[in-house]
Amino acid sequence: MLSTGPQRLPLLLLLSCVTLVLLFQVADAKRDLKGACVTCQQIIDNFNKGLERTVKQNFGGGNTAWEERKLSKYETSEIRLMEIVEGLCDSSSFECNRMVEEHEEHFETWWFKRKAKHPDLHKWFCIETIKVCCPKGTFGPDCNSCVGGSDRPCHGNGMCDGDGTRGGNGKCSCDHGYEGEFCLDCIDGYFNEVRNDTFSLCTECDTSCKTCTGATNQDCDACKEGWEEDDQEACVDVNECASDSSPCEEDQYCLNTEGSYSCKGNYLCAPGCTGAGPDKCQACASGYQDTEGTCTDIDECSQPEAVCTEEHRECINTKGSYTCICSSGCEEKDGECVPQPGREEKRREEKRREEKRREEKRREKRREE
Ligand SMILES: *[C@@H]1O[C@H](CO)[C@@H](O)[C@H](O)[C@H]1NC(C)=O
Repeated sequence: MLSTGPQRLPLLLLLSCVTLVLLFQVADAKRDLKGACVTCQQIIDNFNKGLERTVKQNFGGGNTAWEERKLSKYETSEIRLMEIVEGLCDSSSFECNRMVEEHEEHFETWWFKRKAKHPDLHKWFCIETIKVCCPKGTFGPDCNSCVGGSDRPCHGNGMCDGDGTRGGNGKCSCDHGYEGEFCLDCIDGYFNEVRNDTFSLCTECDTSCKTCTGATNQDCDACKEGWEEDDQEACVDVNECASDSSPCEEDQYCLNTEGSYSCKGNYLCAPGCTGAGPDKCQACASGYQDTEGTCTDIDECSQPEAVCTEEHRECINTKGSYTCICSSGCEEKDGECVPQPGREEKRREEKRREEKRREEKRREKRREE
């Protein structure tokens, strides 16, 4: 009989903990089943590399006739096998070393007795002997066919969970554009260009369609947001800027784009514009004046009243403004323009030297006379 009371609570707690631990272990084991096959495949890859590496090798110093007779050929010798087996795992790979250690005798069996009849080592070792992998297109403990069949899992439009391993559930995760248990259906925005019970090709709709039956904007079942149906039942761009009330702020203008719109400012205008360019302002920004409906730059430097009034400064006009720079021969010092001292000095020095040269020449002339 079931009775609940305070004395049952610890037991219930314990039971739920045990259940949780068991669940985690099951999840772990499932991951391991896929991982074991990956490990096995790596071992086989390394085995094949080892075969290549030793293909031209011999017993060392060349096979003597005696060795060939006594030890059989190097090609099929135990020594060659040992050399290959030693290179199967990185020393750091625990799973790999464990698997090789556990099944080392199988490599010997295959090497000496099975190689001729079962040349595919992956198939013989990983699938049939130690049973950690399955043939392509199959999955799980019994190597059942993937969803959609083992020839073309997921009908060629997805990945079968656990494909080729003893793990997984065989279900499909579909490639982009496909959906459904069998990856034969198309997601929204894609349509079936070709389809039968075993084959499906999904192609992207026109950008204007949310869903469609064909490739053009006339094949839409429904238009995407930002597009609307026209008289010919085609999806066309909605011009958001055409409506009486602009969706933009007062000082910005509306720019229509495919499926949307954007709001932009016009630096020439002081707020209020209908577009880009100097002739789209309701009023001109400061530094610009309205010249027959166009906002043009004001040349502050050529106005009757001088704007640069400080000494040794001259006016330079810029777009929408002006600056007062130091006149040539002057330099900025503590916010004031002062004559460059070096320059005057150099000029005087130059003059003195010139005088000296002339004097020299005059004296020479006199001596010659
Ligand atoms: C389905 O279509 C594919 C590709 O067109 C074709 O190869 C296949 O034979 C078709 N299968 C059936 C059952 O009609």
